[in-house]
Amino acid sequence: MTSEQTAQTAPDKKRRIFVTTALPYANGKFHLGHMMEYIQADIWVRFQRMRGHEVHWVCADDTHGAPIMIAAEKAGKSPQDFVAEIAATRKEYLDGFHLSIDNWHSTDSPENVELAQDIYRKLRDFVRDGKPASFIERRSVEQFYDPVKGMFLPDRYIKGECPKCGTKDQYGDSCENCSAVYAPTDLKNPYSVLSGATPEMRSSEHFFFRLSDPQCVEFLREWTEGLDRHGKKRLQSEIIAKTKEWLGEDGKMGDWDISRDAPYFGIPIPDAQGKYFYVWLDAPVGYLASLKNYFDSGKANANGESRSFSEFLKADDTEQIHFIGKDIVYFHVLFWPAMLKFAGYKTPDSVNVHGFITVGGEKMSKS
Ligand code: MSP
Ligand code: ZN
Repeated sequence: MTSEQTAQTAPDKKRRIFVTTALPYANGKFHLGHMMEYIQADIWVRFQRMRGHEVHWVCADDTHGAPIMIAAEKAGKSPQDFVAEIAATRKEYLDGFHLSIDNWHSTDSPENVELAQDIYRKLRDFVRDGKPASFIERRSVEQFYDPVKGMFLPDRYIKGECPKCGTKDQYGDSCENCSAVYAPTDLKNPYSVLSGATPEMRSSEHFFFRLSDPQCVEFLREWTEGLDRHGKKRLQSEIIAKTKEWLGEDGKMGDWDISRDAPYFGIPIPDAQGKYFYVWLDAPVGYLASLKNYFDSGKANANGESRSFSEFLKADDTEQIHFIGKDIVYFHVLFWPAMLKFAGYKTPDSVNVHGFITVGGEKMSKS
């Protein structure tokens, strides 16, 4: 956090804040990198509570996507059982580190289905000046398909020989030997990591969120460079510099592919048989799903108030504050505010970004 962001506001007016930390993937136990993020947020949350502000801090497991589906299959479990086993390990650590998180939930929950589908419908049915101006567009996409597994292959599940130097067993994006960068379709003798089969090119209809819409780009420029309600920068200066690159003249704000074909462990797209939301569409919605679960279960109003989730979320004075690591900035400062804005939801007040705990110079991870 920058000093602009931590500078104090007069403590007389009671603030109502909802805080989130990034939802950890439900394919492994916590490591110290996760804990560092929670401890940082915990310090800030406790400080605000000590100043008399109302602070609700929610988090959840991020459960969906192809890697988790495939890991579950390898372990001979259903994805639901697989993520439930990881979820069962969380409490010990959260309690052990004395983290003051108010609610822990899951993206594989009825609340998340309801909210993700609601946001999608509002983007799809968007109307401007009385005319339909949908933010969702369907386009045909050519992609590698594994005929043995019967599924489209995410890029990381395709390997082959480097088109430049011929080194075997290289991933579809770049060569570890000669550092050449290429598309998966450039690989020689490509094979599926899942079955070893030779993948086929097949086309399929995908759903895109039209981030390139000038209205969207304009909103994002304003939002990323703007000030929060206390007159402080919403984002750290380094992050604003990065967003200027992404949104600037040379930056190409492409549309975002938000759909995946069955089989996929995720949330079904309404009115679209066999299509699911890409995990990064439903993951941040999980912040709201956890908040909803927290309100619906009565925990949020322990002091005798009777606010509903939607009353709390709609209230103008409710602040929405995120804590994340630097690897997931793009999702949180471009996709997420745009989704919320054009679906008519509250947009984040600020996004606080931290760096990594490293091991031998590399980001610490579960492996
Ligand atoms: N599931 C996504 C986040 C979805 S949020 C809607 C994800 N999960 S993660 O488990 O990989 O990371 C969760 C958080 O931990 C992220 O903010 C990430 O930056 C942080 N960290 C993961 N490894 C870390 C370190 N080695 N050091 C510090 N923070 C690290 O990304
Ligand atoms: Zn090579």
